[in-house]
Amino acid sequence: MQRNLQRRLQRQATFQSAAFTGALLLTLCGPSAWAGEAAVAMPQSVDGTAFTSEREAVVWRREELKDIESLVRQLRFDLVNNQDAAAAAPRLAELRERASAGNLLPAFIAGTHGSGSEARADIWAEWDDFVAGFHDLEVKVDTLIEATDQADYRAAARALAEVGASCKSCHRAYRYD
Ligand code: HEC
Repeated sequence: MQRNLQRRLQRQATFQSAAFTGALLLTLCGPSAWAGEAAVAMPQSVDGTAFTSEREAVVWRREELKDIESLVRQLRFDLVNNQDAAAAAPRLAELRERASAGNLLPAFIAGTHGSGSEARADIWAEWDDFVAGFHDLEVKVDTLIEATDQADYRAAARALAEVGASCKSCHRAYRYD
C-alpha cells in the first residue's frame, strides 16, 4: 500500500518534470522545432490513445518494433550490399515516421509491463530517459537520411551502425531479453 502510493507519487513527479522540461524546450526552441512534443507526455491510460485496451497497445507496439527491425535489415541490404539510394529512399521515409517518439510512445501506457511484454517497469519510473532514447534514434535516422541523400555509402554504413547502437542501448536499459 505504502509502496504503491510512493511509486504513484514518484511517477507523477517524473511526469511533471517531463512536462516541465518539455515546456522549457518549447520556450527555447519555438513551437516548430518541437512539434512532436504533445506525444511525449506519458499516456496514463488508454483514454486519449488510439487503443481500446492496454493489451492492444502492447501487441501493437511489439508488431511495430518488429516491422521497424525488418525495415532496418532491408536498408542494410539496400545501402551496404547494393549501394542503391533510390531503393532506400521510400524505406527511409517510412522508418523516419515509424521509428519515432510520436509514433511509439502513445503505446507505452503507464504500467503496461508484465506478461506478454518484454518492457521493464523502469520505463515509467524514468520516463524522460526513455523518451530521450527515441529522440536519440530520430537523430541517428536523420543522419542516415542525409548520408543517403548524398549517396555517401560509407557515411550511410556508419549511420546504420549508429542506428543499431541506439536500438541496443535502449534495449539494454528497458527491455528484458
Ligand atoms: C527508447 C527505447 C527503445 C528504442 C530506441 C528501440 N526500442 Fe525496441 N523495444 C523497446 C522496448 C521497451 C521493447 C519491449 C516492448 C514490449 O515487449 O512491450 C522493445 C522491443 C523490440 C522488439 C521485440 C518485439 C517483439 O515482439 O519481439 C524488436 C524487434 C525491437 N524492439 C526492435 C527495435 C529496433 C530495430 C530499434 C531501432 C531501430 C529499436 N527497437 C529501438 C524499446 C526501444
